[in-house]
Amino acid sequence: MGAADRPLLLLDCDPGHDDALAIALAARHGRLLGITTVAGNVPLERTTANALVMCEVLGLDVPVHAGSPAPLVAELRTAEFIHGASGLEGPTPPAHARQVASNDAVGFIVETVRANPGEVCLIATGPLTNVALALRTAPDIAQQLRAVSIMGGGIPWGNVTPAAEFNILVDPEAADIVFRAGLPLTMAGLNATHQWMFDETDIERLRAGGGPVAQFCAELLEYYGNAYARLGSNRLEGPLHDPLAVLALTHPALVTTTPYHVVIELTGTHTRGMTVADLRGVARAAPPNVEVITTLHAGAATGVLVETLTSYG
Ligand code: RIB
Ligand code: CA
Repeated sequence: MGAADRPLLLLDCDPGHDDALAIALAARHGRLLGITTVAGNVPLERTTANALVMCEVLGLDVPVHAGSPAPLVAELRTAEFIHGASGLEGPTPPAHARQVASNDAVGFIVETVRANPGEVCLIATGPLTNVALALRTAPDIAQQLRAVSIMGGGIPWGNVTPAAEFNILVDPEAADIVFRAGLPLTMAGLNATHQWMFDETDIERLRAGGGPVAQFCAELLEYYGNAYARLGSNRLEGPLHDPLAVLALTHPALVTTTPYHVVIELTGTHTRGMTVADLRGVARAAPPNVEVITTLHAGAATGVLVETLTSYG
């Protein structure tokens, strides 16, 4: 795909091991206009530092704009039990002198979308706080975005609670704004991302075939896979959550989607943060607002990921 054919991308993220891989995919397969960071897996200072580290590792000339340090209403919850204290535990990060371009991720998102009407695809792989604030600040961008692809939710299950997935549960009020904004929205929920698991053989493929970037990412996956093993699988493996939100835009033939009406539960004692999909069938369901990824070609997706990471040299 020539450079002009690659989609214009913005990536809002909370690196995070899987966000780091999403950055690598977005930068290689899209024209990545900028990275914006949000508090999520680890506090904002760490997610922002980790985004800068990944730009250094990947050799990217892409601005990083820091965003929201906290959800709209909820108290911030983080996920150091998966990603470690730094948020990118595993490999030794390279020294670098990179700085954030601004602390106004929301303003950057709004300006970039308005400057490229109908062209920008927004990918969000963390809590949706920045995206919601951008929509609240500039409701017009909902009609100017070409696509919005999020990693979040799950039909019908969660990972933090039986009902709620982490990105949605960290900021359900933000997710509610996003899901009600009339966006061209695609959702990579847990029902899809858990169809795309990596394991030790994939890590060995990276080690065998790649240069420093592939080695760095192999160490990320080894740490991340062991964290999931500690959750109970006792196998070094893990779901490639955030990379799927990127591939859904850059490699749409690898996924299938089904339109559903999805709302965000805000008040349930046991269900706050749940993505509630209306599965009652066309005759009775409410009008769809989301394309939900339902299946994917996991083997081909892994091939794209490994080829991408080894292609960085
Ligand atoms: O539930 C998985 C999601 O939460 C992923 O985006 C992961 O990086 C964390 O942000
Ligand atoms: Ca994430």
